[in-house]
Amino acid sequence: MAYIIDGKKLAAEIKQEVAQEVQGLMGKGIEPHLAVIIVGSDPASQVYVRNKHKACQEVGVRSSIIELSENTTQSVLLARIEELNTDKAVHGILVQSPLPKGLDEQEAFQSISPLKDVDCFHPENVGLLTQGRPRFLPCTPAGVVEILVRTGIEIPGKYIVIVGRSNIVGRPLANMLTQKSDRGNATVTICHTRTRGLSYYTKQADIVIAAAGSPGTIIGEMLNNNCVVVDVGVNRVEDPAAKSGFRLVGDVDFESAELVASHITPVPGGVGPMTIAMLLRNCVKAATSPVSPPWQGGD
Ligand SMILES: NC(=O)c1ccc[n+]([C@@H]2O[C@H](COP(=O)([O-])OP(=O)(O)OC[C@H]3O[C@@H](n4cnc5c(N)ncnc54)[C@H](OP(=O)(O)O)[C@@H]3O)[C@@H](O)[C@H]2O)c1
Repeated sequence: MAYIIDGKKLAAEIKQEVAQEVQGLMGKGIEPHLAVIIVGSDPASQVYVRNKHKACQEVGVRSSIIELSENTTQSVLLARIEELNTDKAVHGILVQSPLPKGLDEQEAFQSISPLKDVDCFHPENVGLLTQGRPRFLPCTPAGVVEILVRTGIEIPGKYIVIVGRSNIVGRPLANMLTQKSDRGNATVTICHTRTRGLSYYTKQADIVIAAAGSPGTIIGEMLNNNCVVVDVGVNRVEDPAAKSGFRLVGDVDFESAELVASHITPVPGGVGPMTIAMLLRNCVKAATSPVSPPWQGGD
């Protein structure tokens, strides 16, 4: 039976560290401040934004939520982002995804100042990450790496299979895990829907990271004995027994996988809390440092 990694506990450790850093900054008259823009009333997005707000409050990071109506135009959204870009009291800016139909998410992300881009979605920050000199680490991939490191799982030399090639999870994670560093130096294969024979790869992996967005993508018989399984997926499945009518599951069939793996993350309570913890870290970083790359000078 696999050891179940407690993402909530690890996230609580990181939050404590962040809270201490925030106290130090407050002593210097700096109050880290995250501004989150939410457009429309998507219920899942509202929950995510509330959770981020609560986490900020727990560690002493100031959090502002800017709620814009469903019929906000692109130019109004961009103008709001620009106001936050120039507001010296704001250190981090997030635009909650997904935006309502008709709004250009890519353009919105790109208009956030790279110095305040605590999600690490801006092409400049993605480029820096790719070159191994990150300004910010993207929150979910950083949460995955932190889970491995804090659980004492060696990364260098390991064969890691990532299922999913999105710009938010799979690709940046592969990038981080292949950097020449103690938290990298892995051999990584990225799989996707056009991969032929997914289990050929997962069967050989020391570490399998599932970020597919589809329940049951990974089952026990696809895994190598004693591998480590990190489940990034968050999927709603109908559950008449639940008050809400649904429950959350990952991309991994937990019951069969935990019989084969040495370590496994649960959903919920695995990667999710770590993502928020890493966001808080980025907020502190944005408030602390002259985070410009060396050739640009400080801000
Ligand atoms: N816990 C957290 O904090 C957190 C944060 C972010 C995301 N998530 C969750 O993580 C999951 C992935 O998110 P995302 O934004 O990366 O999703 P996404 O943009 O939809 O990407 C999913 C990727 O998985 C691949 N894929 C889907 N089904 C597959 C299958 N059966 N076999 C192989 N590859 C498959 C897709 O391949 P193609 O490219 O070929 O379509 C795609 O590359 C979602 O459940 C999301 O809710 C959780």
